[in-house]
Amino acid sequence: MLSVKVNDGLNVQANRELYSSYLYLSMSYYFESIKMLGFAHWMRLQAGEELVHTMKMLDFIAANGGRAKMLPVEAPQFTWASPLDAFKHVWEHERVVTGLIHALVKVAEMEKDDPTIQFLQWYVKEQVEEEESSDRVLKKVKAAGEDKVALQAADRMLGERQFRFPRGFEIFPYASQR
Ligand code: FEO
Repeated sequence: MLSVKVNDGLNVQANRELYSSYLYLSMSYYFESIKMLGFAHWMRLQAGEELVHTMKMLDFIAANGGRAKMLPVEAPQFTWASPLDAFKHVWEHERVVTGLIHALVKVAEMEKDDPTIQFLQWYVKEQVEEEESSDRVLKKVKAAGEDKVALQAADRMLGERQFRFPRGFEIFPYASQR
């Protein structure tokens, strides 16, 4: 059974994960509008990953005697000055999310909630990977600078990214139960 503080904290974090998905979707359409379809593809998959992060957290709440609550999701930024501006935003955003996850671990520790502390370790590790991957992309885009050919090469490379929804986190997980 989750305490009210842990339940509330998990609901707020699930909301931030959903906001992350919304933010990356906004970036995906920004890149589509400037015809950088590889970057748009990368962002769309990133939005999918964030949706998995959201659902995993809401499912944990529901499976542990809590109540998953949908909170309002704010509108993300609509446009960016350049690809570099957008990827800087990704990197900064992921650092903020890392801070939020660590703060949530502290709440679970104060509540002596071992299952939630264990559960959140997945997010702690995931954030290390998210910061590393956004840093890698940011460095690539920075190195390309104003060079159109180098930017197009980075765009092609990011267009090769693959992602599959893990089993159990499909968008329509109930389809086979009907
Ligand atoms: Fe789920 Fe990128 O934080």
